[in-house]
Amino acid sequence: MALLEVKNLKVDFQTNDGVVNAVKDLSYTLEKGKTLAIVGESGSGKTQGAFALLGLLPKNGKSSGSVIFDGKEILNLPLRQLRSYRAARIGIIFQDPMTSLNPYLRISRQMTEVLELHKGMSRSAALAESIRFLDAVRIPDAKNRVHMYPHEFSGGMRQRVMIAMSLLCGPELLIADEPTTALDVTVQAGIIDLLVDLQEDFGTSIILITHDLGIVAGTCENTLVMFDGRVMEYRKTDDLFANPEHPYTKGLLAAVPRLDKKVERLSTVSYEFMSQRGEA
Ligand SMILES: Nc1ncnc2c1ncn2[C@@H]1O[C@H](COP(=O)(O)OP(=O)(O)OP(=O)(O)O)[C@@H](O)[C@H]1O
Ligand SMILES: [Mg+2]
Repeated sequence: MALLEVKNLKVDFQTNDGVVNAVKDLSYTLEKGKTLAIVGESGSGKTQGAFALLGLLPKNGKSSGSVIFDGKEILNLPLRQLRSYRAARIGIIFQDPMTSLNPYLRISRQMTEVLELHKGMSRSAALAESIRFLDAVRIPDAKNRVHMYPHEFSGGMRQRVMIAMSLLCGPELLIADEPTTALDVTVQAGIIDLLVDLQEDFGTSIILITHDLGIVAGTCENTLVMFDGRVMEYRKTDDLFANPEHPYTKGLLAAVPRLDKKVERLSTVSYEFMSQRGEA
């Protein structure tokens, strides 16, 4: 049985200018311990499609369709029931670490709170566990650093702290929304390696949302390409790279800078794709 099965997910936003259909039709399945990449240009519905799973949509958003997690329908469950899934069974790394780290609280407090709440740990046991996780994401001197505030960490370190926090309760599913945005390439690679290691240790299934096809290749079994709220292509990553079917995917792949090929110029994606569809 698949750990997660998303079927015909839709997300609509009510706005002053009418309804925005952010996600029009999204379906995929994820097996235990596997990784699915969701790629696509900005605004294609990657983040809102993931937020909908956990009832995290902005107030003006509404979702429909079906999300079966571990055999149970969880889409649009009452908040009280959804809370038992959030953090404990489904972890999420947000696109911007500062939106989920409280700038006024020490990292120690933010981490121990999660463990006290979801695992009923004592403060001292929770602190020891927090340090163990900071060690696992390779924060140097975790024992002392755990007592610092978020602004005392660099961007890459904050992202590591986020990963540690999202894994604290041992979730079966981790949703990583652009976990390496705004980091330089070497730090990016380090964070992806880290996710892969942690997946091996904890058996977590991962949804990796990214713009960057470069990091998808070695990491994710399957890749789903979104465009304008829909699935353009959803296949084994190797097949997709070897033989992209859809013009949009071809454009996306052509836009990935490759070290092994000499290119005259980098491609751009949407305009060429839309002109093929007769929209531009
Ligand atoms: N609160 C909201 N009200 C109205 N529209 C919204 C709201 N939040 C998001 N949207 C719209 O939903 C669409 C999908 O947004 P989403 O954040 O899922 O894109 P994304 O693929 O994650 O993009 P990025 O790569 O930039 O993160 C966008 O067109 C966005 O403008
Ligand atoms: Mg996003």
